[in-house]
Amino acid sequence: MDYTILVVEDEPVQLESLAGFLKKKGYRVLMAGHPENALCIVRDNAVDMVLSDFKMPGMSGVKLLEAIKEINPSIQVIIMTAYGTVESATDAMKLGAADYITKPIDLYRLDVLIRNIVERKQLVSENRLLRQQLSEHFRVDGIISESPGMSRVLNVAGRVSDSNASVLITGETGTGKELIARSVHFSGSRSDKPFVTVNCAALPENLLESELFGHEKGAFTGADRQRKGRFETAEGGTLFIDEVGEIPLSLQVKLLRVLQEKTYERIGSNTPLQANARIVAATNRDLEAMISEGTFRQDLFYRLNVVSIRIPPLRERRKDIPPLVELFVRRFASENNKRIAGISKEAMDTLMKYSYPGNVRELENIIQQSVVLSRGETIMREDIPARLNERAPKDNPWQSVEASFTEKVEAFEQSLILDALRETGHVQTRAAERLGIGERHLRYKLKKYGMKQVLGRSAIDYMVETTTI
Ligand SMILES: Nc1ncnc2c1ncn2[C@@H]1O[C@H](COP(=O)(O)OP(=O)(O)OP(=O)(O)O)[C@@H](O)[C@H]1O
Ligand SMILES: [Mg+2]
Repeated sequence: MDYTILVVEDEPVQLESLAGFLKKKGYRVLMAGHPENALCIVRDNAVDMVLSDFKMPGMSGVKLLEAIKEINPSIQVIIMTAYGTVESATDAMKLGAADYITKPIDLYRLDVLIRNIVERKQLVSENRLLRQQLSEHFRVDGIISESPGMSRVLNVAGRVSDSNASVLITGETGTGKELIARSVHFSGSRSDKPFVTVNCAALPENLLESELFGHEKGAFTGADRQRKGRFETAEGGTLFIDEVGEIPLSLQVKLLRVLQEKTYERIGSNTPLQANARIVAATNRDLEAMISEGTFRQDLFYRLNVVSIRIPPLRERRKDIPPLVELFVRRFASENNKRIAGISKEAMDTLMKYSYPGNVRELENIIQQSVVLSRGETIMREDIPARLNERAPKDNPWQSVEASFTEKVEAFEQSLILDALRETGHVQTRAAERLGIGERHLRYKLKKYGMKQVLGRSAIDYMVETTTI
């Protein structure tokens, strides 16, 4: 085992016997018969633990402990003490000793005690590593922010991460709200505390309440044991309230109270609990519109919206598309064990033009699909789902100022026809019915606009060939 224990004991027989026992247990063992000597060894060797006598000539156990901690505070120290000096041993614990054991030494107890300390230390360092990986992942590696819009988002997220202020993240679906919520937590001072999520859209009102605040045994039918709420589990860390716009009004009042008073009770209890989790909320709803409709409380909005982060839709920050594509290609290529070197220019052009109503998540799905479908080492235009080649509603020429009246009308017609075809599974009879025109009339229009049926690899789709006006 790669774990080094230094035994410090002025009684030679005792020293040898302890050292022999620990060696047999698989530890690397160093020995010192004198405290001064022990300090030299600690200075020159990578020592993980010191097992030291408490009363020795030249230096007391407490002094030795202090000196060791000064050299290397991560060294675990166990004090060996005779009966009657237990009080000073507990003092030593206050100074940072990991534990103490009384003399005569029960070797079995000593073994258990050391093993516990070793395991605890491993756990702590594993946790630290894990947290480090997480926070690195979310802070730098994971988040693409090539565009000015997204850099601003990350900038604000970074600046608020150490504060306790509530943060409200808004943005269309799939823009990365949860990702940013995590980055606020993992790049801040609370990163070693829990990040807890509650999704308000996923639960009916009564369950949501007990999910947030917890409940006592017997608080309601079915509450067969006490349960901690998310506020409690998130203690000291961050509570991420996702889809906050879905909270029913009655629960909004209760949430507001908690945010104002910083205390709450589990359902069925009178004991107030401290709410000290930092709140990050997210929604794709327009909360201000909801306020004017009377479905969201204004006072709650102000509490949540101390810092507001609005994530722009992907179509407003197209500079992020190429690096996102690269990130996702790499991710899905390795997930699917495929060698993919890159993406063709035409394929990238198609991706750059699309409007992404589902934002980054939609792009992620598109790339996943394309990676799976691709046959060579380069993703080609044919590997991209056919719907991307259709004109996006936002880019429709009837909205463009330059197009003439006729062009606008025709473009509008084409778009109505495409929608009808898509909604009816491309059955022309049904599409014509939906449009309220005859089937022959529809066929005429299809011909006029050069809309021909093409067999895509995954679906039958229509392509508009006369897209340039
Ligand atoms: N800037 C970005 N860089 C890298 N990946 C991103 C970025 N933004 C979003 N993603 C990825 O896109 C996906 C969707 O992001 P996320 O779940 O955070 O969106 P959301 O806004 O919470 O969506 P919804 O409104 O549907 O809940 C995730 O897989 C996320 O990792
Ligand atoms: Mg989300």
